[in-house]
Amino acid sequence: MTPPYGLQGKVAVVTGASRGIGLAVAEAFTAAGARVCLTARDADGLRRAAAGLDAVALAGTVADPAHLRRLTGLAMEAYGRIDVVVNNAATNQPYGPLMDADPDRWREAFAVNVEAPLRLVQYAWRAWLREHGGSVVNICTEGATHVGPGLGAYGTSKAALLHLTQQLAGELAPGVRVNSVSPGLVRTEMARFVWEPADGAPTGLPLGRIGDPEDIARAVTWLASDEARWITGTDLLVDGGTRVRAARSQAPSQPGPRPPITYHLPGA
Ligand SMILES: NC(=O)c1ccc[n+]([C@@H]2O[C@H](COP(=O)([O-])OP(=O)(O)OC[C@H]3O[C@@H](n4cnc5c(N)ncnc54)[C@H](OP(=O)(O)O)[C@@H]3O)[C@@H](O)[C@H]2O)c1
Repeated sequence: MTPPYGLQGKVAVVTGASRGIGLAVAEAFTAAGARVCLTARDADGLRRAAAGLDAVALAGTVADPAHLRRLTGLAMEAYGRIDVVVNNAATNQPYGPLMDADPDRWREAFAVNVEAPLRLVQYAWRAWLREHGGSVVNICTEGATHVGPGLGAYGTSKAALLHLTQQLAGELAPGVRVNSVSPGLVRTEMARFVWEPADGAPTGLPLGRIGDPEDIARAVTWLASDEARWITGTDLLVDGGTRVRAARSQAPSQPGPRPPITYHLPGA
């Protein structure tokens, strides 16, 4: 995929980049002219992802601030700059009713989904962004603004990430733009338990299908690029119409010819 907008000469750090949305972002960024520095926990998966790209990579968990500091150091050492940070790694655990939520797993969810994005931006800020500017894209979720069964810890942490995005956008302007992208259901490992049981069945989504990682990567690339130069503190919903699907019951099933429009002019 070669987007019409570029990231030529830019350097991006992308977390959770060994598969799914993070890998699609790394591929799209590379196609748009950026060099990328990647992380994920599984070293083999990360090596495979980085091998296809002109990328540097460091395996580890984003829950460890020391790992994020080393990751920032690697990007600076390899490329000498960090223009874009994409906070994509996340966990949807602990799954289930909040009354059963294990405190350690709850803390882990917030360490990965909320604290890590802040830490990584702090390190990149000190290393490059404060002096030279750049942009940050946090990967949130369509579900961050409403409640649902089982995903209470995930939803709460992603709602915090939405707030963090806006807070950082205000604090880091005008040099650094900070936005989020909120995907609907995307065909990845993380959401397999949602899409696989109904795979092939009609989705009921206005745009007719669940998302592919590339659908999200296109939006992230645009938002990270200078094409979005006057946008900060925004959440871009990329959900195939999930949020508006209730209106489908009122919609015609097939687009047909429209009735002619009759204008009634005063005095006519
Ligand atoms: N798929 C969806 O339907 C959907 C919907 C809304 C939002 N999202 C969001 O999209 C983002 C990407 O999710 P995805 O669906 O692409 O998931 P995925 O396919 O499971 O990929 C997750 C990536 O993050 C890495 N990762 C997980 N935990 C990590 C940690 N603690 N430290 C470092 N890397 C870690 C994984 O590699 P390792 O396991 O090797 O670490 C993998 O590279 C997440 O922020 C998620 O909340 C997804």
